[in-house]
Amino acid sequence: MTKKLPALSGKVTVQTLRDRKRSGEKIVALTAYDAPMARLLNRAEVDVILVGDSVGNVKLGFPNTLPVTLEHMLHHTQAVRRGNSRAFLVADMPFLTYEFDPKEAVRQVGRLMKEGGAEAVKVEGAGAVLPSIRALIGANIPVMGHLGLTPQSVHRLGGYRVQGRSPSEGDRLLREARQLEKEGAFALVLEAVPGPLARRVTRALSIPTIGIGAGKETDGQILVLDDLLGFSDVPPPRFVKPYAHLWTEALSAVRRFRNDVRSSRFPGPDQTYS
Ligand code: KIV
Repeated sequence: MTKKLPALSGKVTVQTLRDRKRSGEKIVALTAYDAPMARLLNRAEVDVILVGDSVGNVKLGFPNTLPVTLEHMLHHTQAVRRGNSRAFLVADMPFLTYEFDPKEAVRQVGRLMKEGGAEAVKVEGAGAVLPSIRALIGANIPVMGHLGLTPQSVHRLGGYRVQGRSPSEGDRLLREARQLEKEGAFALVLEAVPGPLARRVTRALSIPTIGIGAGKETDGQILVLDDLLGFSDVPPPRFVKPYAHLWTEALSAVRRFRNDVRSSRFPGPDQTYS
């Protein structure tokens, strides 16, 4: 007999996230790219699932997030949507789908929400992107900002490096964070910035900050799920704490299967129909 699992607590919404900022209860966010992992994160009562464009390097074999298309994002967002019932579902806008033309941004994002089932989108940067963010929010599309190390700018930044180390860079990041808040972003991801700067931004804003490599004083934390699970053959960034080593375990399982097939130990009587 299968054991009945306890019921999940209520659906997470933007309002839940706003309340968390006020109450100080931390927001737990992770990426997912498919339905089984979305179900797992629901079972673990994770608050936010991000269908990150990190799907490009984590799952699709690209060297970075730049080749990811809206069609890729739609495909994975739909899969996650089918596995999700509780978490707030955010999808990344891929590189060059929102930067220049606010109307085009709304049209592209509209697909992620209408066809993909996303409840919000994440866009990288501020400055030139603000008119698109304004248009999205004007069209009732909740927007999560993303500052610091913005992977879509990897070539401009000269690699995946910590951002906001100098006082002027820190001041600029704080200014941009305030602009995003003013435009109506409901939350802000801060990636690879020094802890004291993340604390300063977090204290200055009334919207929640979600850190990745930004120390512990943000309002929440996000990691790439495969990094957390140790499900990769490349070492994760320094800010990741692996909570499991699934790559090693999976490799060992596949090797044992290979050996069993070669030595005719698999299939055994239990796996054979009479
Ligand atoms: O694409 C992604 O996974 C992200 C997170 C790392 C924040 O943007």
